[in-house]
Amino acid sequence: MIIAKSKKDLEKMRVVGELIAEVRETLRSMIGPGMTTRELNETAEKMMRDAGAVPTFIGYAPYGMTPFPFAICASVNEQVVHGFSDDRELKDGDVLSVDMAATYNGFVGDTATTVAIGNVDEDVAKLIQVTEECLELGIDQCRPGNRVGDIGWAVQEHAEKFGFGIVREYTGHGIGRKMHEAPQIPNYGRKGTKEKIRPGFVFALEPMLTLGEDLTKTLDDGWTVVTKDGSMAAHSEHTIAITPEGPEILTLTREQKKEAGLRLAEATV
Ligand code: MF3
Ligand code: CO
Ligand code: CO
Repeated sequence: MIIAKSKKDLEKMRVVGELIAEVRETLRSMIGPGMTTRELNETAEKMMRDAGAVPTFIGYAPYGMTPFPFAICASVNEQVVHGFSDDRELKDGDVLSVDMAATYNGFVGDTATTVAIGNVDEDVAKLIQVTEECLELGIDQCRPGNRVGDIGWAVQEHAEKFGFGIVREYTGHGIGRKMHEAPQIPNYGRKGTKEKIRPGFVFALEPMLTLGEDLTKTLDDGWTVVTKDGSMAAHSEHTIAITPEGPEILTLTREQKKEAGLRLAEATV
């Protein structure tokens, strides 16, 4: 069952969405050559706790898995998702995906972004750009009357135009009081299929694309997901509320919401 959120619930999800977006942008501004994922993780955890929020990932343990030990997932190069933070220094040409979630006032916000370290190969830069575009195209399908298959279709169409691999073993998801709620939101699909999208639903969309094959494997730490062929991966995620008018991105900073408002005002003059 997909849980529709009330006006009050959505108000709370806006607050936690903005909070986790501020964490994301702070991390983005820190990421560069010489930075370690350990420092990024510490900053993220401190920001969440200082705001009175709980890092949702810490202790997260789906059935049969060991509890996840960090506030963020930090996935470097061929790591796709669920990477552990450590003291390895990021270096020129690397690509880092950071995924993070916070729980505040009973609700969860979930967001991820991929950053190029210094100068990356052209195809890697393209991979990051197309992953972000796929997310935007998926978000644009998040409107009442559409179906979950429309989201996957939009993402798949765009990613395949560039020949990128689409990770199928992990998907987007409903989100609310729990990080992972129904429905699953695959990054591939057919138009007009699967669940109907209704106002009050909140979805986390998170395309994961690779420069090579789409198959993944999990490392011995029990969590870190890497591409089987060792190719680079990118991941981009937002938490989206479905309103009667269409998608509302909850995981934007105050600043980003202002900018989006200005662009909208300009477009309607
Ligand atoms: N990557 C997942 C998501 O965005 C959550 C990671 S769970 C963790 O939905 F335990 F690995 F942190
Ligand atoms: Co996430
Ligand atoms: Co998610």
